[in-house]
Amino acid sequence: MHPLLERQIRRHLGEHPETVLPPPGDAAWEHLFNAIGESYEQLDRDLLLREQALNLTSEELNRRNDDLRRELAERTETEAALQREKGEQAALITRLEDAKRQLLYSEKMASIGQLAAGVAHEINNPVGFVQSNINTLAGYVEDLFALTDLLEEVAAGLPDDSPLGRKIRESCERYDLEFLREDVPKLLSESRDGVSRVRKIVQDLRDFSHPDEGKFAWIDLNPGIVSTLNIVNNELKYKAEVITELGELPLIEANQNQLNQVFLNLLVNAAHAIKDKGVINVATRHLPESGEVCISIADTGAGIPPENLKRIFDPFFTTKPVGKGTGLGLSLSYGIVQKHHGRIEVDSQERAGTLFQVFLPIHQPAASAAGEEAAPAAEATAAGQQA
Ligand SMILES: Nc1ncnc2c1ncn2[C@@H]1O[C@H](COP(=O)(O)OP(=O)(O)O)[C@@H](O)[C@H]1O
Ligand SMILES: [Mg+2]
Repeated sequence: MHPLLERQIRRHLGEHPETVLPPPGDAAWEHLFNAIGESYEQLDRDLLLREQALNLTSEELNRRNDDLRRELAERTETEAALQREKGEQAALITRLEDAKRQLLYSEKMASIGQLAAGVAHEINNPVGFVQSNINTLAGYVEDLFALTDLLEEVAAGLPDDSPLGRKIRESCERYDLEFLREDVPKLLSESRDGVSRVRKIVQDLRDFSHPDEGKFAWIDLNPGIVSTLNIVNNELKYKAEVITELGELPLIEANQNQLNQVFLNLLVNAAHAIKDKGVINVATRHLPESGEVCISIADTGAGIPPENLKRIFDPFFTTKPVGKGTGLGLSLSYGIVQKHHGRIEVDSQERAGTLFQVFLPIHQPAASAAGEEAAPAAEATAAGQQA
């Protein structure tokens, strides 16, 4: 029996309702039924109240839930913002490091440029007179040998017992005239080679420290490339098959001589990279979308190891033996291309080959238009390294 009902029965009928049940029709029954009805109504009211209370709690819960959700969304948003900021900071740090590297690089190039100019100037004079002295000396030596020839002839014409004839023959033997005749011209020619190598280095150094001499004009690059190819043909022909694909190019605002020097350096490097036999591909193309032209020189040579790739544009960086490389070719070319507001890109794979691409704008910015005065070397490299 429901406790509520039991309680009402007890209240109205006493402790033992089954024994004291009133007779039917007794008023006690009416009381009982009323009381039961009231109890149910009370129950309904209680239920309603509880329901309302529950509703209130659930509303509150929903509200809290919403608050939590909002808070979570805010936190996620803050975290995303933090991440974004972190990413931006990382990018900024990279940019700063790049800028610092470029600054250091251009400072290095500037001081090396000054040093190079100074050294070139100092060396140029002595090397000049050494070269001219060697030439004069070669003439004198020729005269002296003519004189010894004459002496030997004189000795040969004298009687065998002539003391003078004997003296001359003995002297010729003592000084090993035979050997001198062979060796002196060799020594002179080696010295000449050496001096002209030094001259070449001095010239490179001067070019390196003044890559901006000369004026800009509207030029067609293709003929320049053809004539440069002709010049280096000797260097290339035994090493490589040269394939040229010269596209139709617009005239560009540039300095022909300087650019030819760039092509020459790249071509000679390509030939040097090929050990026995390979292919050098020279191509030019017009890039109308970017307002540029591109000159690419690809070789099937040894390639550049990754650890060297960062250094190839550094002045004096060379992997070639003394006499073959000065390490100035690429830094010089780099300076020239920078001066043209262009860029050099390198793509290399060890043992497979190397691709150098020179991108040059058709128009120079107004400030450096044709005929403008040259800027110092350091400025030409300040825009940074592309490779
Ligand atoms: N096409 C190439 N293939 C392989 N290595 C190259 C190539 N071009 C340049 N290099 C590397 O870059 C170095 C620097 O080149 P460069 O400045 O022209 O000086 P150099 O030719 O006098 O050594 C070379 O010694 C070589 O190691
Ligand atoms: Mg070189």
